[in-house]
Amino acid sequence: MAAVPDTVAKLANAGFEVWVEQGAGAAAHFADDAYRQQGAILANGVDRLYEGADVVLKVQAPIDGEVERIPEGAVLVGLLQPARNAELIDALAARKVTALALELLPRISRAQSMDALSSQASLGGYKAVVLGAARLDKIMPMQMTAAGTIPPARVFVLGAGVAGLQAIATARRLGAVVEAYDVRPAVKEEVQSLGARFVELPLGTAEGAGGYAREQSEEHLRRQRELLAEHVASADLVVTTAAVPGRKAPLLVIADMVAGMRPGSVIVDLAADSGGNCELTEAGVERDVGGVTIVGIRDLPRTVPVPASQTYARNLTNLLVYLVKDGELTLDFDDEIVKGCCVTHGGEVLYPEPKASLAATSAGGQP
Ligand SMILES: NC(=O)c1ccc[n+]([C@@H]2O[C@H](COP(=O)([O-])OP(=O)(O)OC[C@H]3O[C@@H](n4cnc5c(N)ncnc54)[C@H](O)[C@@H]3O)[C@@H](O)[C@H]2O)c1
Repeated sequence: MAAVPDTVAKLANAGFEVWVEQGAGAAAHFADDAYRQQGAILANGVDRLYEGADVVLKVQAPIDGEVERIPEGAVLVGLLQPARNAELIDALAARKVTALALELLPRISRAQSMDALSSQASLGGYKAVVLGAARLDKIMPMQMTAAGTIPPARVFVLGAGVAGLQAIATARRLGAVVEAYDVRPAVKEEVQSLGARFVELPLGTAEGAGGYAREQSEEHLRRQRELLAEHVASADLVVTTAAVPGRKAPLLVIADMVAGMRPGSVIVDLAADSGGNCELTEAGVERDVGGVTIVGIRDLPRTVPVPASQTYARNLTNLLVYLVKDGELTLDFDDEIVKGCCVTHGGEVLYPEPKASLAATSAGGQP
């Protein structure tokens, strides 16, 4: 949900009149009455919901027939995936919608409270390990019992960004022995501080802009896979989280590497939605390949809807409240937060490159 009862109250305090679709919070166990108590107006049906809206808060990008419902000139905020949705972005521009794509929010300290990628990735990293542990034919911690010692499970985390670090922390808390690898050597200390071993490969770095990884050549990836194979083979649970913004996920675990794993071991591929880090991942499917369970579950935060909605709704609210200056919703295109995530405005498409003509212009409206 893009709003929870707490954030409705916060938005109301900031001067917004908040409308919520009836029953929309039910799957995350947020009742209509709880929204009402915090001042929301419940709309029966989406037509009424969109009518007259100045701001539309969503989780995912609009689907068929939704763009036409957004009032012209309104502000739309959500995870719009502009890199995959060129047609949608054109349609939003044609509708003169000001669209803010949260994926493009700069990863800077003052935007941290609005950072939906981080809040959701962190939940995904946690859930990937819990899911993997439940599928595993072993337990995670070492146990010393009267019947002898049970060794701890070995977990290998590929990609140590926000999701990967949370996966490492969760696996450590469950008592596993954890190794992790990332192309950005800058994460080594963070990995070690969580009690995991950082796997270093003699391949050079692949640090790109904004603290993200950059795409690597096929030859680099091939060499990487060769060197990673032994670590994958010795792991009971492999959690893959590697991503390059706007690109297909890098292929890190090929079929041969899966064949080298112990039957009973598990791969949870968090990159399933963007092509998978494992060659045998099928998005949305859990499969058994030679005794190895490969979990290609999509959109893991959806499986923990309460904290996913609470944190996502707070991210949106923090952004919106930030944009209110002197009681007016104001978009300052000199501000790197606005400039970073605004993909359409005033009929123009600003993604991937913002047009210079927009510098120092602003869009206003009563909250
Ligand atoms: N300052 C802030 O406010 C802030 C907030 C959130 C994140 N960040 C930074 O953003 C960066 C990335 O965040 P993310 O988790 O959203 O990234 P992401 O989801 O794009 O990628 C996940 C991880 O995969 C890694 N990766 C890419 N290709 C790989 C490969 N071939 N092999 C192994 N690993 C590979 C990336 O380096 C990254 O660590 C980090 O530096 C993080 O610290 C900063």
